[in-house]
Amino acid sequence: PKRIGILTSGGDCAGLNAVLRAVTLRAIQGYGWEVYGISHGTQGLLRRPIDYQKLDLKSFEGSILRLGGTILGTTNKGNPIAYPMEDGTLKDRSAEFAEGCQMLGLEAMIGVGGDGSLHILRKLMEKSKIPFVAIPKTIDNDLGITERSIGFTTAVDVATEALDRLQPTAASHDRVMILEVMGRDAGHIALAAGIAGGADIIIIPEIPYKLQNIAHKIDDLLKKQRNFALVVVAEAVKTENGSALQIFDLNGRARYGGIGHYLSDEITRLTGAETRFTVLGHLQRGGQPDASDRLLASAFGVRAVDLVAEGKFDRMVAWQNRTIIDVPILDAISLNSTVDPNDALVQTARGLGICLGDAPY
Ligand code: F6P
Repeated sequence: PKRIGILTSGGDCAGLNAVLRAVTLRAIQGYGWEVYGISHGTQGLLRRPIDYQKLDLKSFEGSILRLGGTILGTTNKGNPIAYPMEDGTLKDRSAEFAEGCQMLGLEAMIGVGGDGSLHILRKLMEKSKIPFVAIPKTIDNDLGITERSIGFTTAVDVATEALDRLQPTAASHDRVMILEVMGRDAGHIALAAGIAGGADIIIIPEIPYKLQNIAHKIDDLLKKQRNFALVVVAEAVKTENGSALQIFDLNGRARYGGIGHYLSDEITRLTGAETRFTVLGHLQRGGQPDASDRLLASAFGVRAVDLVAEGKFDRMVAWQNRTIIDVPILDAISLNSTVDPNDALVQTARGLGICLGDAPY
């Protein structure tokens, strides 16, 4: 039988196990193939012995569909083409990766990733001469060609639930609550969760803000309407004068988690209101996938296997207008999408009277 490999790479998100299940079910039931799940993204194929697990129908009999994370593990460290060695040098380990694919006898690979990891995977598979099909996942929803990527709606649910929980405590204490959400350079999670969770103010990197506008909105709310306010801010938002508040870890990787604190201090300074901030962080990535993410993961998984069967390679599955299409991977990863200031949800937010920080209230 034909043998295909599957791996998850880059940051995890809810729905990855649902996609592994869909690929396995379709490959075995539809075509009688064998499915090899590679452990820890690309890392499994660099290890000797190769780190993998054979996936079969039994692997998915239990509760795996419902589980967060990925049963294969993933990584966003150690690009095999420029692999960080212990002595600080970078080594091209793509030949070892290709050898790993040969040793397993893989005839095609399906990779689940975001723009960064799909870019690397595509190159690796090309070097390994293994036909490749990609499936998009990212809570940030910033792959422009697909309206949805796996993980986004669950992350929005988590952020919305956080607002549901922050509202009563804000109201009990007469406070302004600031929720900092993920999204990398995009404000998609902040915008969607802010609307769904009844935020008064939503600050995203795509729309420049003035602190005065935020302060006015809060003053207005607290004086005229009620005793609390809810603010959502996307992690990539900068200070009013444009300084990035990223913190860099020991490996030089940018870590977000600062803008919520900044806004909280500035709001208190300008309005006198009592504020508290919450950084939601990786809670948005873990946990049960919601129904939409399970549906998307299932649809993408089935279609990706069908693409392999049709011999259509170097393609990524995507969701557009209630259909699954497939597009060249290169086109998909070069079209990053942040929030368009004319987006329907931006108009919705304005229509609801939500302050986006760019206009006085
Ligand atoms: O891209 C997904 C994402 O969760 C971003 O929203 C966030 O900025 C980043 O990854 C966090 O990465 P890490 O898991 O490496 O801290």
